[in-house]
Amino acid sequence: MKMTREQRYRFIEQAEEGEIEKLKALISACSWRQSYHIQPVTGLLNDPNGFSYYQGHYHLFYQWFPLGTEHGMKYWYHVRSTDLVNWEQVGIGIRPGDTFDSHGAYSGSAIVKDDKLHLLYTGNTRDEAWIRHPYQCLAVMDESGSVVKAEQPVISSVPSGYTEHFRDPKVWQDGDTYYCVIGAQRTDMTGCAVLYRSSNLTAWEFLGEIQTHLSQFGYMWECPDYFEMNDKGVLLFSPQGIEGDGDLYNNIFQSGYLMGEPLNLQTREFDHDCFHELDRGFDFYAPQSMEAPDGRRILIGWMGLPDVEYPTDASGWAHCLTIPRQLSLKDSKLIQQPVDEMKKLRQQSEGHRYQTTLENRSETVAAFNGTAYELECEISHVDAERFGIEFRTGGEEKTVLQYDRLQQKLVLDRTLSGAPMGGKNGTVRQCMLNGDRIKLQLFVDTSSVEIFVNDGEEVFTSRIFPSPESTGIRFFASGGKAEFKATKWDY
Ligand code: FRU
Repeated sequence: MKMTREQRYRFIEQAEEGEIEKLKALISACSWRQSYHIQPVTGLLNDPNGFSYYQGHYHLFYQWFPLGTEHGMKYWYHVRSTDLVNWEQVGIGIRPGDTFDSHGAYSGSAIVKDDKLHLLYTGNTRDEAWIRHPYQCLAVMDESGSVVKAEQPVISSVPSGYTEHFRDPKVWQDGDTYYCVIGAQRTDMTGCAVLYRSSNLTAWEFLGEIQTHLSQFGYMWECPDYFEMNDKGVLLFSPQGIEGDGDLYNNIFQSGYLMGEPLNLQTREFDHDCFHELDRGFDFYAPQSMEAPDGRRILIGWMGLPDVEYPTDASGWAHCLTIPRQLSLKDSKLIQQPVDEMKKLRQQSEGHRYQTTLENRSETVAAFNGTAYELECEISHVDAERFGIEFRTGGEEKTVLQYDRLQQKLVLDRTLSGAPMGGKNGTVRQCMLNGDRIKLQLFVDTSSVEIFVNDGEEVFTSRIFPSPESTGIRFFASGGKAEFKATKWDY
């Protein structure tokens, strides 16, 4: 049953007696809880926020509504890790409810200054007429982990020309100067990103819009992020209001990037190529990146989308974050690879192996059964028309990853993956892929899969909701033969 607005805009303290215990009981009976992904203790998780490194730990926060699976009063929930894969639950990071974040501590980012972690976020407020007034707010975390909010917002109004959809500051440092990008909607209802500058993180000067070539590209850009890599500038953002176009833009909302010459911080000109979608799967949104102490650029996304119902809603929780991905550049394209630290989750160093050539048949591999594992598979010597892997199989259920050599497309099909999901946006996602040799790396968890193709050229990220008994796996080739070489590690 849908919550009323009053129910959605409640703080934890306003939960009814027994309400949280009831949620926890529902959750502990849910067979789709993840085993190695970051997921909410109760309620709804959305965007990753404040991804940073401070005092020996990676810090990560997520948008959190504790009391239900709809979007309501948002907190920042805090987790931390020394290795990006084993995460410790810290607890509430930012509690909303003050004058400038009365209706939620919305998304934002973090940066270290003067040995303190500075969290820059959007304070969401609503007036009596339920009109939104966003503020960009600052909160400072010290070594002890205590978070103190600044009394006043650091950006207290929306510049003229933009609507109240103005949020998600992502901050970075360039020499002695700080910059931040903010996602915005122009008063003509088109989306864009704007740029601010500061010397101290508290006084911010509005510089204007980032001058992209996309003057009409959706009605709102959420969660922008800007960084440079190998002398290129990359602007990530999650535009809303883009129409599907063949294999592209099939999810309700998109997320992707523009790459070009580094952003000119004086003129704000950004000379870039076309918009690239970051992910080919069904469930990926609002990613955020950070620079690790060793210089790697690491990205984590929300494995979910706004305005879509999920099968776990009835069990009192929704969504998780993706595994961390390391970004690199190849031919003006972002390559995404699972961070090397993922190997720490492997329960055996060697793994189970399987090697065979299949011709017009499929083969079940019992040693590869499971619900939480990593699978690496190279497929070569192909003359088959179609070949691939069916995993999480059982009864009628299966999730199919197949290469169609005639169309030169890699196809992920979750039509029979289990509990039905987002059918109105289709149950198949695909992309063009060349080559007679394909490397697939699958990270399967109880209710998700992340597929890295050819060392991160493409990624398919998706939730799936199979029954716990659907643990099987089959390799197949039809219309000819294909050689498979696979290794599987239990997680
Ligand atoms: C993206 C988003 C952000 C906003 C946050 C609120 O999913 O809508 O724009 O800050 O979620 O939870």
